[in-house]
Amino acid sequence: MVCVQPASLADAETIHQLVTFWADKGDMLHRPLGEVFESIRDFKVAREGGTVMGCAALHILGADIAEVRSLAVREDAQRGGVGAALVASCVEEARALGIERVFALTYRPGFFEKQGFRVADVMEFPQKVWSECVRCPFFTNCKEVAVVMDLARA
Ligand SMILES: CC(C)(COP(=O)(O)OP(=O)(O)OC[C@H]1O[C@@H](n2cnc3c(N)ncnc32)[C@H](O)[C@@H]1OP(=O)(O)O)[C@@H](O)C(=O)NCCC(=O)NCCS
Repeated sequence: MVCVQPASLADAETIHQLVTFWADKGDMLHRPLGEVFESIRDFKVAREGGTVMGCAALHILGADIAEVRSLAVREDAQRGGVGAALVASCVEEARALGIERVFALTYRPGFFEKQGFRVADVMEFPQKVWSECVRCPFFTNCKEVAVVMDLARA
């Protein structure tokens, strides 16, 4: 039974290892350990017993918008509903905060579409593009797809 909970500082290294594992395969962007610590309050983990099976972060970018980032599920727990549970928890938190739109930049748009997101133009999220994407080494050759869920309408 998987339980999604706020991450603790003690989870930071496990989160970092999980993200690094998939980032090394080219499935997501790397996050330095220091950045995981800095944003630990954004993170949720899915636990089974004491083991972290997956992680995700909900990062607020403005009064009405937040991003799901660093979503990763252990390789031996794929397709077991962990990713869906993490995204649902992020969406639930965003809704409780009164946030109107939750978006993600992802190489797995099909997964997000199954969770109720729609494919969007990244320029719908200028806060992201002009504060973070511009500093990314892949900015001019970005293969990530923007997806969004409009909570005001959902
Ligand atoms: C993408 C990822 C988070 C999905 O997590 P998961 O726990 O395997 O997914 P779930 O079991 O919760 O899947 C939920 C639904 O999405 C579907 N799905 C899962 N991965 C999918 C994919 N890559 N493409 C399309 N649909 C997918 C499942 O079949 C399931 O469908 P259903 O509701 O009809 O049964 C996981 O594969 C992962 O960690 N990948 C590596 C890192 C990554 O790509 N992160 C996301 C990019 S930011």
